[in-house]
Amino acid sequence: MCGIAGYIGPKNAVDVVFDQLKRLEYRGYDSAGIAYLQGDHIEVTKRAGKLSELGKALFETPKIAQLAIAHSRWATHGGPTNENAHPHYDQFERVAIIHNGIIENYLELKQELVAKGHKFKSQTDTEVAAHVIGEEYANGVPLEEAARKASKRLRGAFSLVLMSHTEPDKIVCVRNASPLVLGLGNGENMLASDIPALLPYTREVFIMDENTIGVLTKDSVHVYDSDGRSIPIKPMHIEWDVASAERGGFEHFMLKEIYEQPQVMRQVTAGRVDDSGVVRLEGVFNENVWTEIDRVNIIACGTAYHAGLMGKHFFESTLRLPTDVYFSSEFRYGNPVLSPKSLAIFVSQSGETADTLAALRLCKERRIRTLGIVNVIGSSIARECDRTIFTQAGPEISVASTKAYTAQVMVFALLGLYIAQVQEVPGVRVEEWVSEIMRMDALAEECLTLETDIIKMAEEIKDMPLCFFLGRGADAFVAMEGALKLKEIAYIPTQEYPAGEMKHGPLALITDKVISIFGCTDSTVRDKVVSNMKEVQARAGKCLAITTSDDTLMEQAADWTIKIPKTKYDFLNALLAIVPLQLLSYHIARLNGCEIDQPRNLAKSVTVE
Ligand code: F6R
Repeated sequence: MCGIAGYIGPKNAVDVVFDQLKRLEYRGYDSAGIAYLQGDHIEVTKRAGKLSELGKALFETPKIAQLAIAHSRWATHGGPTNENAHPHYDQFERVAIIHNGIIENYLELKQELVAKGHKFKSQTDTEVAAHVIGEEYANGVPLEEAARKASKRLRGAFSLVLMSHTEPDKIVCVRNASPLVLGLGNGENMLASDIPALLPYTREVFIMDENTIGVLTKDSVHVYDSDGRSIPIKPMHIEWDVASAERGGFEHFMLKEIYEQPQVMRQVTAGRVDDSGVVRLEGVFNENVWTEIDRVNIIACGTAYHAGLMGKHFFESTLRLPTDVYFSSEFRYGNPVLSPKSLAIFVSQSGETADTLAALRLCKERRIRTLGIVNVIGSSIARECDRTIFTQAGPEISVASTKAYTAQVMVFALLGLYIAQVQEVPGVRVEEWVSEIMRMDALAEECLTLETDIIKMAEEIKDMPLCFFLGRGADAFVAMEGALKLKEIAYIPTQEYPAGEMKHGPLALITDKVISIFGCTDSTVRDKVVSNMKEVQARAGKCLAITTSDDTLMEQAADWTIKIPKTKYDFLNALLAIVPLQLLSYHIARLNGCEIDQPRNLAKSVTVE
């Protein structure tokens, strides 16, 4: 996700914020820019591409300033171009702003502003926010007051950083949802989206709470709540070495990304559901196309394939829409029968997976409608699909995919609900689904609090020679993803099956050393899963159950129990179950001394067939 940096003080602010951006490079970005004070105006330099491009443009001649803000962008609204890169000016070029997150009501605000005569240079939601601030920044209103008023007009999950040439002694920042950290120095102050950017300059940091506003001068830092009341600042002293801090204090990117999932769940829904429970997926085929689709084929690899299985489960059980899921690597060779009214969905985090791209090209040759569910903007699959829904999960650095999976499954749910709306599928209560989906971020946070118990379990089972992952319904699909995580990072052999299949052969592998992990989050089949568990235990196997918080009996049945929060829908319960499974694999791998972020033999983006 985007990187934010800002500095005010005696050092050359241009050099400082450029260095801070470099320290945020690991987050991934596609363009970058800086705003700095020069006399009575704000100078902005921005470039698409790597930071080196910005560096070339910026340092052609030496620049000196005592205040600067900078941004590295991971495109969401509008492609990665110079124009769309941040900072953006307000309509009078008095204020420059940078922004993380998404302004959900930007279209409606833009319409209002255009009607008043505002002109926009970019396609971004950020420039709209800049103009809203510009409107509030009139008649001697201080910049922080303009920011506070403007924030009340903006909807979404965002952080903003602002500077003005009429108040050249301050940086103002607003934290709504995306993280903002203030760095406190001696005669200098700074801010960033992540701690690593600050560490070479200060170890005293203050992490801003949601819905607060910060005002930094070189000698002072003040933070206010959304009503303008002052909030006491208690700085934290950071001991981390710079390299580990680049992972935001987490030992590995994988753990960091597991922990980002609540935020990712918010990002996925941002701008796609409205307060009245209506799902809006603009730009994804006209409504009449959706009513024509008679069948869906989902095509993907690895984790994305597992997300596709969840998509099939949703489409068939909720929409009664026939759906098949194919491994991309097999799709072309099976000479698939494709109905001309069908839709082919390609799921990919990187958007560059060669097998998936080849399958996409085959569908295009056959004139089948294609839709991408992709994380990386500007990637080949995103470009070549007729339409694409972006998962908005931010850059995923760990080779083992975690947050991208969650985002893909969430997108399938949103897409399914959108189809239900358009096709008017009887019996699907879209509003109720939406209200449960909007709780998922908080429920995923609760799942993360299970980590201490999970570490204890990991210590007990880390030496198992084989691990079964079992479940029924959606739990069976999540079991496949749980198994992939364990084998790819902890190198422990796994067997993954629908629980009912065990007695048809796999049960022969059970010994007293083998652990079986059962997904039991679907109360309608829980009794049957418990029977399968008993069959394993009768052969001396040990069982770990993942069940929902309302289940009072599982502790008696299983050897270990993990309880996750319960939603109204089995599909969403099963999705939440992936969080403890990811944590369990992570801790087993860590305890066994495995290389977690770059597991042996694997790469992040698989561009060969
Ligand atoms: C596993 C993993 C891989 C990818 C697969 C597809 O943790 O990351 O299985 O899911 O290589 O990659 P994308 O989604 O980039 O097409």
